[in-house]
Amino acid sequence: MSAVRTYRWQSPSNIALVKYWGKKGIQLPANASISFTLDTCHTDTKLTAKLSEGNPQLNVHVNGQLKESFKPKIEQFIERASVRYPVLSHLDLDLETSNTFPHSSGIASSASGMSALALCLCSYLRDSDLLQGEFMQEASILARLGSGSACRSVYGDLAVWGEHKDVVRSSDEYAVPFTDFHEVFSDYRDTILLVHKGTKSVSSTVGHGLLEGHPFAEKRFELAEANMSSLLIALNSGDLDRFIEIVEDEALMLHAMMMTSSPSFILMEPGTVAIIKKIREFREQNAIPVAFTLDAGANVHVLYPAKFEEQVLNFVDKELVSYCEGGSYLCDTVGKGPRELTC
Ligand code: PMV
Repeated sequence: MSAVRTYRWQSPSNIALVKYWGKKGIQLPANASISFTLDTCHTDTKLTAKLSEGNPQLNVHVNGQLKESFKPKIEQFIERASVRYPVLSHLDLDLETSNTFPHSSGIASSASGMSALALCLCSYLRDSDLLQGEFMQEASILARLGSGSACRSVYGDLAVWGEHKDVVRSSDEYAVPFTDFHEVFSDYRDTILLVHKGTKSVSSTVGHGLLEGHPFAEKRFELAEANMSSLLIALNSGDLDRFIEIVEDEALMLHAMMMTSSPSFILMEPGTVAIIKKIREFREQNAIPVAFTLDAGANVHVLYPAKFEEQVLNFVDKELVSYCEGGSYLCDTVGKGPRELTC
């Protein structure tokens, strides 16, 4: 009988500031991206693994309930990961996972979920003396194979994924931490306005694919490269005006790419646009450096320095909450990255 080992990791979600949209090869990005790692929005995953004596078994429990529908994505992930670590395709795996953010809230759980699983697998590989490199780098490589953006979640604060001339050691295969940032960003706030709960109409996998043959694709990749360079400077100097300009440009360009895909699709809802306009008005009238960003969905991430929390939350409660489904929003902040937990 082979040893049964159990591991448990908590891993956060992240929100991209320069967006990854478009891929090549096996989960390699068409352009470099950078994200804030979040804190309260995270996944807690416990993995029990042992060498299989027959056909490898996979069981997935989400919030205590058996979830057959989650298996295909995880099986595909294990298959990809086992190219690097063949042992992974010979394991019986029991997965128990839960998210802090409400199920079907419209918040993508793939970044936190896939990074938590990758970290558990790396713990298993480490204890089996099979890990091929530094722990977090290997976790990032594996997480990427599950969901591209997940590779950035293994580091706290800010992480860069994708080769970029201004980031030493940057790579298409894994994320690296970006530590050269101004202190104002160390506890930046992200208030997530849930405009539309539930699953989105077009998955990000399909969306990435639609960049192939997209008439604006090359220009988009060029602009993302330039936005990375400018944003790194703004992050380093704490230039909030420039930060806001680039982050909002990225959010809108992401959605412009969706709207001009063939077939075209629109993930913004009327409430998304109304919120964006209100945020710009509020910023102008109050000189408070608040910005919006979007991921591949209708929800709006409101980003601002911690010292403006009270004013911004008052504004959210008074002016924006009416656009949120069921009046729901989540309060998060830049976080310190994953944590290994006792089982
Ligand atoms: O990791 P994926 O395949 O779910 O793609 C994520 C795409 C965006 O969230 C829109 C952007 C990003 O860089 O996270």
